[in-house]
Amino acid sequence: MPSQKIAIIGCGAIGKVHVDAWSHEPRAHIACLVDLLPEKAQALLPLCPGAAVETDYRRMLADPSITAVSVCLPNHLHCPVTLDALRAGKHVLCEKPIALNLAEALSMQAEAARAGKILNIGVVNRWHASVNLIKDMIAKGELGEVYHVSLSFRAFRSIPGLGGWFTDKKRSGGGVLIDWGVHFIDLALYALGLPEPRTVSGVTHARLAKKMEDYKYLNMWAGPPDYKGTSDVEEYVSAMIRTSGPSIALEGAWAQNLDKGAMHLDFLGDKAGLRMEYRGAFTVYGTRDGHLYELTPKLAPKNDYHAEISGFVDSFLSGKKDRAHIDEVLVSQRILDGVYRSAAEGREIDLRGK
Ligand SMILES: NC(=O)c1ccc[n+]([C@@H]2O[C@H](COP(=O)([O-])OP(=O)(O)OC[C@H]3O[C@@H](n4cnc5c(N)ncnc54)[C@H](O)[C@@H]3O)[C@@H](O)[C@H]2O)c1
Repeated sequence: MPSQKIAIIGCGAIGKVHVDAWSHEPRAHIACLVDLLPEKAQALLPLCPGAAVETDYRRMLADPSITAVSVCLPNHLHCPVTLDALRAGKHVLCEKPIALNLAEALSMQAEAARAGKILNIGVVNRWHASVNLIKDMIAKGELGEVYHVSLSFRAFRSIPGLGGWFTDKKRSGGGVLIDWGVHFIDLALYALGLPEPRTVSGVTHARLAKKMEDYKYLNMWAGPPDYKGTSDVEEYVSAMIRTSGPSIALEGAWAQNLDKGAMHLDFLGDKAGLRMEYRGAFTVYGTRDGHLYELTPKLAPKNDYHAEISGFVDSFLSGKKDRAHIDEVLVSQRILDGVYRSAAEGREIDLRGK
């Protein structure tokens, strides 16, 4: 079978990770690197020698020999660029979050169905060994009935690129909830077998960087700050989600006045419970033969981004939707929208039938 020609749109932080992952995929090769800033694309050429460099993604989309694209752009471009790519007949792997909001996500889902192309989302945790083992244990009833899940994604000082696109609601859709929270919510829903959300209640706070110069930090990823830019998104979120399965509580902070980071997920079952360190190992706590036990599986390390790309290629070559298909992931965006609406309106939001 001829090698599939693919393109990367957006050669920033996650674009580089996609380039690495695609370069490990034997059934495809990168034919084009696209970035508004050509030097960003050129910097990745050593990882995919011979690839073309393009600044206008529409020119790349006009090339019929390109089968699929990775969309690695700021959030506000996910929807328009994915729609253009699907309409140009490409399969698309679009980074998380799906889009700025549910309406955009639904339009992407509808376009993928109309075009008959695969649209996967970069829900990389769905390829993580711990997550899949936890999913399997839950499905087999090894935790008993899982009645509550608690998600913690809190850092001391971790607002990204203050004043840039991450903190500008028009371009990001929100702050820590849509940036980090989406990973945690999606991971939990996937491990639980996608329970239906019923109601959500949430609060958000934008306190520490309201006046950007007042935000004191040690270092800044996606930085440095742009004090002429915009900072109008939440750096803190807390929410409670009722589902057809367990309740899910979450607490997240890009920044807080507590040097106590916490990046983990707790699954509480009536037979056993477990804590998973985010993107790491997990420990199960239970009772057996009258004894309390603790068990930490040792999992072989693997690269989840390579698995994500390989799954995408499997999917578009076979035409079969997989775990990362937008149909399977849309539920996370419904919850994000519900939490933001609840926070804005100061009340619980009913998501049933929505
Ligand atoms: N899956 C993950 O773990 C993960 C990690 C980081 C980021 N992300 C997601 O990936 C996306 C990108 O994040 P990032 O950190 O790489 O951002 P980034 O700012 O580092 O990179 C974005 C790139 O897009 C380019 N760009 C902007 N507009 C463009 C346009 N119209 N045409 C072509 N290029 C354009 C920019 O020049 C930049 O190089 C975001 O949606 C983010 O949420 C996912």
